[in-house]
Amino acid sequence: MAQLSKSEILDWLREDRTGPLRELYARADAVRKESVGDAVHLRGLIEISSHCRRQCMYCGLREANRDIERYRMTREEIEECARTAVALGYGTVVIQAGEDDALTSEWIAEIVGAIKRTTPLAVTLSLGERSEEELRAWRKAGADRYLLRFETSDADLFRAIHPGRSRNAPDRLAILRQIKQLGYEAGGGVMVGIPGQSYESLAQDVLTFRALDLDMIGIGPYIAHPATPLGSGRLRPPIDPGDQAPGSEQMVYKMIALARILCPTANIPSTTALATINRTRGRRQGLQVGANVVMPNLTPVRYRPLYQIYPAKACIEESATDCNQCLRGQIRSINRFPGRSTGGRGELEVNAGVLANAASPLVQLQEKSYGG
Ligand code: 5AD
Ligand code: FES
Repeated sequence: MAQLSKSEILDWLREDRTGPLRELYARADAVRKESVGDAVHLRGLIEISSHCRRQCMYCGLREANRDIERYRMTREEIEECARTAVALGYGTVVIQAGEDDALTSEWIAEIVGAIKRTTPLAVTLSLGERSEEELRAWRKAGADRYLLRFETSDADLFRAIHPGRSRNAPDRLAILRQIKQLGYEAGGGVMVGIPGQSYESLAQDVLTFRALDLDMIGIGPYIAHPATPLGSGRLRPPIDPGDQAPGSEQMVYKMIALARILCPTANIPSTTALATINRTRGRRQGLQVGANVVMPNLTPVRYRPLYQIYPAKACIEESATDCNQCLRGQIRSINRFPGRSTGGRGELEVNAGVLANAASPLVQLQEKSYGG
């Protein structure tokens, strides 16, 4: 696989002619097919708590937002969602929350342990910047993967939109390295179009995905939330208007395609934020320009409106069964098939429906045998 230099990546990010972009997307789709196949993995998302002690300038769950009612799911509710994931045929649950101090190390470890003992699910955690001790305890309890988007590789912009971090706290890139060392599959990622985010820094983000050798890469558009300093326009990081990267659908597709080309075997979701800016086609188009994962929501419907990271989030009213059917339909409509394995990195799945009598529908491959 030919590598792209930073200036080539930058050229693609500035490209807006349909013809060349079609080629970029076709190339990313071909790399996706060759490296991770036609399976689309379903990861059931459980948003377990909307409490957060942080003040991220873009996020609707920031502590200073007093206009929202906060919730925390019970252990029983979370385990019930995991059973639903099994019933719907998902391979993974993603347990996500704000940085909620009440989610203690022991409590999370118990829930992870219970899910791992009683279901075949892979468990992904997405609980923010947590200490090495906590990360170690959860890994020991059986958690398989950890998601922590680094949001932007521009250190100045990161600092501007994440106030109140202590000087010697490890940065997210350092935490991601820790996550890998602990034996988790590590997921990073960015928002596209953050005020103050340049094309150049997006190019650096793509190179960072590769340098970190991420197992999972989440990319979605930045969506302004009016109850936040960044979304209300009160905070304006300094940037030349010509350098500002837009948070458009097309920019997100370009970032997904470039991530796939540079990181062929990573698992890359077509995100809910993308579905939010284009309800009818966003998810499918993400899957057609490099993505191979979707994240149907399993959070009980009564909590959904309370987990408003950004406004007008897709799938607020749909039940778990609705999203399951909707996504399976979308996957079929683009000639792909829903994954049946847990869909870890390096698992290449063939269509079990087509090979109904094959001895093993799941071919486990070492990454090096096809990642060249
Ligand atoms: N728009 C888009 N994505 C957002 N996130 C947080 N706030 C927003 C927003 N306003 C994303 C961040 C975070 C993930 C859980 O949600 O990338 O890591
Ligand atoms: Fe939720 Fe389509 S995925 S309604």
